Amino acid sequence: MKYMKGENYITHSYAVEAIMKGLAKRLAPDDVEYWGIVGLLHDLDEEQCDWRNDMGVHGPTSAEILKKEGIDDKVLFDAICSHNPKCGVKAKTTLQYAILAADPMSGFVKAVAQIYPDKKIASVKHKSVMKRFNELRFAAGANRDYMEAIEFTGLSLDDLIDVALEEMGAIADVLGL
Ligand SMILES: [Fe+2]
Repeated sequence: MKYMKGENYITHSYAVEAIMKGLAKRLAPDDVEYWGIVGLLHDLDEEQCDWRNDMGVHGPTSAEILKKEGIDDKVLFDAICSHNPKCGVKAKTTLQYAILAADPMSGFVKAVAQIYPDKKIASVKHKSVMKRFNELRFAAGANRDYMEAIEFTGLSLDDLIDVALEEMGAIADVLGL
């Protein structure tokens, strides 16, 4: 974790890694580890670039960091960039739509868990996630359109919610949920 120190960023990265692996089990069973890596690294540059002033640098900076570390993988770089359409890369592949959707869903499920008295993901039911999904003022920063883009992979929003609850639930202790 040379490039990422913030605990919230780290746990978010683990959550998205878990969801990506869960999606890969259904969509790309031979690439579960690879999809996990895309999830783990998608926000690598979060503390390394000034995305608050220019969202266009979030994504490309991660690719630059990885290049500097000797990694040359265009599929990985394109997937990382496509999770932030504001950097100018539009999702086109199944992997790219998966990361676009998994990223906000991880934060959204966490936000739903936090309204429960015990703040545990184990308390969260699928239908509660869906109910909150339709309340646009709840966790307004979690982009509904990006989450719904999971449908371009052939999976449904319901599937994505199931995967997120199951996979984040499996590492709830790591996530502090
Ligand atoms: Fe993210």
